[in-house]
Amino acid sequence: MIEMTEKDFILKSYNSNIKNGSVKWSSPSNIALVKYWGKKEHQIPENPSISFTLSDCKTITEVIYTKKDDKDFSFDVYFEGEKNEAFKPKIQTFFERIETYMPFLRAYHFKIETSNTFPHSSGIASSASGMSALALCLMSIEQKLTDTVTSSAVEKSFFNQKASFLARLGSGSACRSIEGELVVWGESESIAGSSNLYGVKYEGDVHTNFKNYQDTILLVDKGEKQVSSTVGHNLMYGHPFAKERFAQAHENLANLKTILASGELAEFVKIVESEALTLHAMMMTSMPYFILMKPNTLEIINKIWAFREKSNSNVCFTLDAGANVHVLYPHNEKETILEFIENELVNYCQNGHYICDQIGLGANQI
Ligand code: DP6
Repeated sequence: MIEMTEKDFILKSYNSNIKNGSVKWSSPSNIALVKYWGKKEHQIPENPSISFTLSDCKTITEVIYTKKDDKDFSFDVYFEGEKNEAFKPKIQTFFERIETYMPFLRAYHFKIETSNTFPHSSGIASSASGMSALALCLMSIEQKLTDTVTSSAVEKSFFNQKASFLARLGSGSACRSIEGELVVWGESESIAGSSNLYGVKYEGDVHTNFKNYQDTILLVDKGEKQVSSTVGHNLMYGHPFAKERFAQAHENLANLKTILASGELAEFVKIVESEALTLHAMMMTSMPYFILMKPNTLEIINKIWAFREKSNSNVCFTLDAGANVHVLYPHNEKETILEFIENELVNYCQNGHYICDQIGLGANQI
C-alpha cells in the first residue's frame, strides 16, 4: 500500500457543470481491542489502536446534492425521517475541517438523510458509523464530480484511504469503520503501512479462531454520555500516566499481532480486558476524574470472570467510553455464551436489552 500524506488528498479540480445527484452508503460501527484515548491537534492519535469492524450495527446515510450559487456551507440533516438540528454543529465542524480536501463543499446544498440499525437511545456510539457513512457519501460525490470510477485496485485503495482520512476528521474512531475485519489506525512499528492519518486494513495473519468472532453488546445504560469523547481525549494532556499509557498501547498492539496469528485466545483475553480497564483507569485518574462504569457494568464483568473460571470458555469483555459491555467470544462458543447471557447477564441490562453482532467486512455502497 502506498503511504499518503495530507497533500495527496487535496482534490485539485472538479466538473462544476454537474447540477445534482444522490449517493448512499451503509457503514458499520467498530469495537477497539487496543484503545484510542488521547489525541493531538488535527485528530492525530497519541497511540495506535486496532478494532474489529462490526457487521449489524450500522448507519445508513443518503446524501442528495444540489448545485447552488452562494458560497456558504448549506445542509439539512434528517435523522430517522425527521429533521434534526442537534447533529448540525458536528457536521458543520466536519465540513470546515475537510473543506481543503473537498473544494466543492460550498458549491452544493446537501440533504443528509441518516438512520441507524441500532436503537437511537442505546448508548452505542454512533459517531464511528455515522461519520464514516457521511465521509463515504462525500467520496462518492467527489467521484461523480471528477468522473472517476473505482475499477482498479489502486483507485479503490485511494478511495478507501481518503474516506478513512475524512472520517477521522469527523471522529477519530470513524476512520476504522471503512473496511474490515480488523483495522489499525495510528503509526506503529509493528504494522507496515500504518498511518496517523487514516485506518488501514490489518493484513497480518489471522488465525481461524478469530473467524466470525462474536460481539454481544449489553445495554447497561442507554442514557446520554456524561462526558463527550473529545473532552475525555483532552484530559490525556498533562495526565500523570499518559506517557506510560501510550507506550503500553504500542506494546499491546505488537503483542496482539502475534496472538492474532497464533490464535492463543487466553492471551487475547488478557490484552483486550486490560485495554478496557486501562481506558477506564485513565478516566478515573484524570483531572477532573470521572467514572463511566455503572454498578451493573461491574456485576457483568464479575459474572464473566466467574463463568470463565468454571468453564473452559474464552469469553471476555471490552468497554467503550460508557457503561455498556461488549461481550466478545469465538464463534464456536456462540450457543453456550448466548445461553450464559440469557441466564446470567440479561438481568443487568436496561430493560433486558442487548444486541448480537459479529465481526464484519466494512462499509457498502447502496
Ligand atoms: C473510547 O472516536 O469518539 O471508543 O475523535 O473525539 O470523535 P473523537 O473520539 P471518538 O473516541 C472513541 C474512543 C473509544 C476507544 C476507541 O474506539 O478506540
